[in-house]
Amino acid sequence: MANESITKTFGVATGLCVVCAIIVAVASVSLKGVQERNKALDKNVNILRAAGLVKPGEKVSSAKVDELFADSKRVVVDLASGKIDETADPDAVEADKNNVVTLAKEDDVASIKTIPQKTVVYLFNDKNGALKTAVLPIVGSGLWSIMRGYLALNSDLTSVAHIVFYDHGETPGLGGEISNPLWTAKWEGKKALDDEGKPIIKVVKGTAAPESSDVDGISGATLTGNGVTNTVTFWLGDKGFGPFLKEFKAETLQNDELGKERR
Ligand SMILES: Cc1cc2nc3c(=O)[nH]c(=O)nc-3n(C[C@H](O)[C@H](O)[C@H](O)COP(=O)(O)O)c2cc1C
Repeated sequence: MANESITKTFGVATGLCVVCAIIVAVASVSLKGVQERNKALDKNVNILRAAGLVKPGEKVSSAKVDELFADSKRVVVDLASGKIDETADPDAVEADKNNVVTLAKEDDVASIKTIPQKTVVYLFNDKNGALKTAVLPIVGSGLWSIMRGYLALNSDLTSVAHIVFYDHGETPGLGGEISNPLWTAKWEGKKALDDEGKPIIKVVKGTAAPESSDVDGISGATLTGNGVTNTVTFWLGDKGFGPFLKEFKAETLQNDELGKERR
């Protein structure tokens, strides 16, 4: 067949497409396991960053990640009641597509439309088994995108240990600065809830007053900052982790008292 013939041209093009499609399909199927392991590792590293056990930018092996999770416990929280569901399997809860509640418009402070009915919280303990940090998953709308992160509270369940945003589509250099460790460091130690358990922490325009529950705004990115405030307000509030934090605070206080009595 002549090289210039249309049949040969189409035949070669089709053959090349089939070969390439097979290579891509084989690569995709054979690398799926690796991709899923990397995704799980990335998620766990972000949780550890929120818990303050991995520094920003620090590279950690999966063996080290497992080691750092040793003093932690995953618990399934029913958001409406605030109670820990001891019988629920965290992996099954995260995979359950029916684990969704639609928010009423007036409750949807973070503009996310739906939340899970049950969600997984990570509790990290110190060497004596006492609570050190509680890592809460958070999600909310920024200016352009859905922002996903973790908010870690100290053992008082009131002040911020760390905040991490690991997934968002805000503009690099503007709203994208929410994942800059220099900015997230400004959250550390801030009181997030008042004495009644109401969320009070917020991102302000400009510089925050020292000793306040305000966090410096990102210049040129007030709208993303407002999204972060809304996100944190929602998740620390009554429709988010508010009921859990109240229940759990009472429980940890009681355990502390029991511990003191026994000593
Ligand atoms: C191309 C482009 C991208 C922008 N990206 C963001 C962003 O990611 N987050 C944000 O809050 N503002 C962003 N802005 C700016 C907002 O429109 C708005 O001006 C800003 O949030 C106001 O903040 P300021 O009061 O601190 O200047 C962007 C503007 C432009 C033109």
